[in-house]
Amino acid sequence: MAMKRSDYLSEVWREGIFNNKVVFCTGGNGTICSAQVRAMVHLGANACIVGRNVEKTESMARSLMTAREGSKVLGIGSVDVRNPESLNQAVESCVKELGGIDFCIAGAAGNFLSPLSHLSANAFKSVIDIDVLGSYNTAKAVLPHLVKSASTSTSGGRLIFVSATIHYTGAPLQTHVAVAKAGVDALSANVAIEYGPRGLTSNVIAPGPIAATEGMERLSRGEDAQASRKRIPAVGDGQGGGRCHGLVV
Ligand code: HXC
Repeated sequence: MAMKRSDYLSEVWREGIFNNKVVFCTGGNGTICSAQVRAMVHLGANACIVGRNVEKTESMARSLMTAREGSKVLGIGSVDVRNPESLNQAVESCVKELGGIDFCIAGAAGNFLSPLSHLSANAFKSVIDIDVLGSYNTAKAVLPHLVKSASTSTSGGRLIFVSATIHYTGAPLQTHVAVAKAGVDALSANVAIEYGPRGLTSNVIAPGPIAATEGMERLSRGEDAQASRKRIPAVGDGQGGGRCHGLVV
């Protein structure tokens, strides 16, 4: 489904800034990553999104293509970031179909609310595996292509991990996620140190709560939305509470 540009992109971006670039994105079905990819596609990029659910991933790819006439967006389902083989195959398909990878958004994540007392070792491991091992597998699969992009263009070779802020302080019912996101931050910093000299950048974005996302849907059950908004010192309406823009400054 087509979306209004103002729903995912602020006005400051130059049209065509990502012409001839390719973005590879894990977690591309999700609200945050799909908004990022939609914005990049609008601004000229072609894209490949991967996810576990085939129907959702293919349907989101079709929706993302409406952001710019003539764009190409591949949606590859049955890809679990915990499985390096399926990721490597998706990366190879992306490179074959779209010509390379200039940017990567590693956004696949797992989350649920649970007190430590109810968290099994496997539950903890599931989120660590999706967030930390999955981000690592993604980085390993795309890094050779990002190095190639950085060697031919000053604006290529960009890796972004989707982190959070809860591990800065700890958060109730989120031990597994806080530990995982700390790992993602460490991974990003180490990629930056090792690959910076080869022209790559590696960064995290650390979103707080964003209205109307799957994450908030899962995590804010039962909480009064207005009370939640009042705790956020930001954006637009003077009452706090972010909106999910793909690219904002
Ligand atoms: C306690 C739970 C649980 C719950 C699952 N488990 N849900 N334990 N409370 N609510 C346990 C299971 O019992 C099992 O342990 C283990 O976790 C693995 O569960 P599976 O269902 O087999 O795992 P899997 O199918 O791989 O699913 C992974 C998942 C699931 C993380 C559990 O929630 C998921 O796929 N989520 C992906 C989508 C998602 O969460 N997106 C939102 C991301 S938002 P046992 O011991 O029984 O075997 C986000 C925002 C972060 O990340 C920022 C926050 C501010």
